[in-house]
Amino acid sequence: MELNRRLACLAALVPPGCIAADIGTDHAYLPIYLVEKDVCRVVIATDIKDGPFRTAAGKIKEHQVEDRVILRQGDGLKVLNPLEADVLVLAGMGGNTIREILSASPHILSGAKRMLLQPMADAADLRFWLCDNGWRIADEQLVEEDGRVYLIIVAEPGREVTTDPIHLELGPRLLEKKDPLLKGYLEKIISKYERILAEIAAAKSDLAREKALSLEKKVAKIKEVAGCL
Ligand SMILES: C[S@@+](CC[C@H](N)C(=O)[O-])C[C@H]1O[C@@H](n2cnc3c(N)ncnc32)[C@H](O)[C@@H]1O
Repeated sequence: MELNRRLACLAALVPPGCIAADIGTDHAYLPIYLVEKDVCRVVIATDIKDGPFRTAAGKIKEHQVEDRVILRQGDGLKVLNPLEADVLVLAGMGGNTIREILSASPHILSGAKRMLLQPMADAADLRFWLCDNGWRIADEQLVEEDGRVYLIIVAEPGREVTTDPIHLELGPRLLEKKDPLLKGYLEKIISKYERILAEIAAAKSDLAREKALSLEKKVAKIKEVAGCL
């Protein structure tokens, strides 16, 4: 099994010898790779939807790893037993979906030693949730593939030391490491906020003006951070 750059980056962050669970596995590429390369003896692969579940079952069969990739269908972490998996991977979903999945199963979460999270959006909300729920951001990586930049967050149990909301919003480990893709990543965030500001500009209410003011301040801070890279 050959992995694309995004999945290869996730695979490299799975500690050898662990039992990993890939939640929302779809094609099951990552679990198949992890057992084929003997990174893990066993990986649990899950998906909520019939189509991806069937695709995963087909790929697992094709690669003859049915005894090492345990496939389950169901919602988030609800299909796992406590202490069954020590590494949880949730990749390719929205940050808020990831947050909802994690919030729904605290008893499963408390047994995990590491989470690899790759949110497609709303990364800031996810980081705030992690920090409020006993997880520290151990590492962050940006991966570029086909012109798109993907974020990977490595979370481990503990207390996050960064308290500055703007650093948490942008990625505290990315900022510390001055990731080479960070400048472009921040420019995208700035453009998103500037688009919202342009939309709000047309509204005349006090609430809209207040929102615009706070967003302008945020954009100024992000530009300041980006300027220091
Ligand atoms: C875009 S795919 C990502 C596949 C793979 N993880 C990757 O990163 O390439 C997202 C998958 O998450 C699954 N999914 C969404 N919500 C889920 C949930 N609550 N529990 C389990 N799977 C979920 C979807 O069915 C879909 O197959």
